[in-house]
Amino acid sequence: MEKFKVGLLGIGRGTAYGHIFANNPKTEVVALCDIDQESLAKGGEEFQLEDSQLFTSFDDFINADFDIAVLGSPIPDHAYQVVKALENGKHVLSEVTAANTLEGCEQIVNAVKRSDKKYMMAENCNYMYFVQQWKGLVDQGKIGDIFYAEAEYVHEIRDRVLDSDTSETKWRANRAPIHYCSHSLGPILYIMDDYVVRVTCAGKDARIIPNVGAGAIDMQVALFETNKGAIIKVLRSSVACRKPPLCHYVLYGTKGFLENGLENYENIGNSYFEGEDERSKSMECLSSNPNAPEEAKAGGHGTSEYYLVRDFLQSIEEDTVPPIDIVRAMDMTVPGIIAHEAAMYGNVWLDVPRLGL
Ligand SMILES: NC(=O)c1ccc[n+]([C@@H]2O[C@H](COP(=O)([O-])OP(=O)(O)OC[C@H]3O[C@@H](n4cnc5c(N)ncnc54)[C@H](O)[C@@H]3O)[C@@H](O)[C@H]2O)c1
Repeated sequence: MEKFKVGLLGIGRGTAYGHIFANNPKTEVVALCDIDQESLAKGGEEFQLEDSQLFTSFDDFINADFDIAVLGSPIPDHAYQVVKALENGKHVLSEVTAANTLEGCEQIVNAVKRSDKKYMMAENCNYMYFVQQWKGLVDQGKIGDIFYAEAEYVHEIRDRVLDSDTSETKWRANRAPIHYCSHSLGPILYIMDDYVVRVTCAGKDARIIPNVGAGAIDMQVALFETNKGAIIKVLRSSVACRKPPLCHYVLYGTKGFLENGLENYENIGNSYFEGEDERSKSMECLSSNPNAPEEAKAGGHGTSEYYLVRDFLQSIEEDTVPPIDIVRAMDMTVPGIIAHEAAMYGNVWLDVPRLGL
């Protein structure tokens, strides 16, 4: 069987997924692109690539001979790069979020509709082991109908907003915290099988790193109303003083609740199922499937990226809709873009359009 050829963009997230593709018997890494020469050379050694397989120009890279483009580049570049990749006949696995503007989202939607190749957004949090377990519990009706959920993602990455040594502003300086909502909304909407229809949001001030850009807003809190009538609260910050990161999810249903612990993606959470439990009981929340093979951790974030790649490849092989297709990618991206507008207009409620249908 001929292997799928994979091209990686971006040392970091592109190469993280590259480790999974390199270990998969169905795929081989054949091209790598990064504007940073030094990182590119190191990446080339790691994946044992020839100089002719290394690219500093995205336009040269995307013309090279491969089947699958893994785009691990800054979000403002995604729209251009996804469109080009699809137009060049590549299947696309794109890092989150889909794009940073509504226009960019629409460009991606149109390109996906014109193409016969697959597009999947790589929202790895949907593939965390405990998220998959919760999905099973919710589908069994253990907590009834979900009417309220919370996700709090506070990850201090100030140096990725403003370099404290050089004072160089990074692309994240212009990424409002709530724009980066797919790690939060993604798992919740997946578990609830729902999508956002309206949003309001608060948070405009930047006291911790002033005068840099929307990415340095101290914190933003959005309330999302879903199609099924549930409310989801999302708290987001890239600068607030907290370590390690807070990656917290809570789901309340008519018959119980589920929540994970407060730090990172390995912790002890709680559950309560009415009729079964006297009181809430603790539950282990893990990012890795304990039954997964050892190489499944090669991408990082537990085994989430291993299973995400497995499903993406399956959608290509069987010509089926990828689990995080264009509609779900937009469902996790557009609400954040509109939420920031709602905050800027003064905490108003705004309708959220559904793209990609
Ligand atoms: N899923 C996750 O857990 C997770 C974690 C971190 C970042 N991300 C996502 O990954 C993506 C990349 O984020 P990052 O922090 O790694 O970005 P980054 O700024 O560190 O850039 C990644 C790499 O891309 C290279 N690059 C930038 N522009 C390029 C271009 N035009 N052509 C070629 N190479 C280019 C950079 O030199 C760098 O090596 C974003 O979408 C981000 O949201 C996801």
